[in-house]
Amino acid sequence: MKSFTDERVENYLYAMLPQREPVLQEMERQAKARDIPIVGPAVGRLFYQYARLINAKTVFELGSAIGYSTIWWAKAVGEGGTVHYTDGSRKNADEARGYFEQAGVADRIQIHVGDALEVLSERKEEFDIVFNDVDKHDYPRVFNMAAARVRKGGLFISDNALWSGSVAYAAGNPDLANSAEPDKYAKGVVEFNRLLYSSKDWFTTIVPLRDGVAVALRV
Ligand SMILES: C[S@@+](CC[C@H](N)C(=O)[O-])C[C@H]1O[C@@H](n2cnc3c(N)ncnc32)[C@H](O)[C@@H]1O
Repeated sequence: MKSFTDERVENYLYAMLPQREPVLQEMERQAKARDIPIVGPAVGRLFYQYARLINAKTVFELGSAIGYSTIWWAKAVGEGGTVHYTDGSRKNADEARGYFEQAGVADRIQIHVGDALEVLSERKEEFDIVFNDVDKHDYPRVFNMAAARVRKGGLFISDNALWSGSVAYAAGNPDLANSAEPDKYAKGVVEFNRLLYSSKDWFTTIVPLRDGVAVALRV
């Protein structure tokens, strides 16, 4: 899992987490073995907590891979809730479907294969939560779509808001002037964070857990 915080603090935080159910543990093993970038259990719990805090019943997820974060959302919305899974890979979606069945949440997850931004743009309804985890250079584009798709009082949540700390380089910190040129992903995340914090539509906090989670309340 991607992380930039002090390793000892990170280990401490993860050692405290209660055991996950077997299917989540299996997905964590798969992610580690196959280098699949899942949010992991500490952030999964944060998602669950935020969703329960606002009594979320509908979640739209952009970028779902094998469906690890999707299962945390699905558990949080409970029976009768709906979570939209999106990924560009049919293979990922097929694997995810198997995990959803094992976790007993398949009936509350709608699977969409294709470009997540296109799938979202085809929807007309508002969601309680939109969760953004697509390729990072697309984050500003997702920002432009999100305000119309999240209900007032709902949440727009994005992973990798600190992008391994490289946002500090990409933001043009003079202390880091001799560092390597930031790539399009770091630039995308910096622009995204700037947009979020300067927008009147959102009240934003970046939670520096793992790789940074941007949590924006629709106001
Ligand atoms: C970081 S992973 C998602 C991890 C997942 N949210 C989790 O924590 O379990 C991002 C996934 O989104 C897919 N992806 C990236 N950009 C996408 C896009 N525009 N449309 C659909 N899928 C996309 C990637 O191929 C990858 O499978």
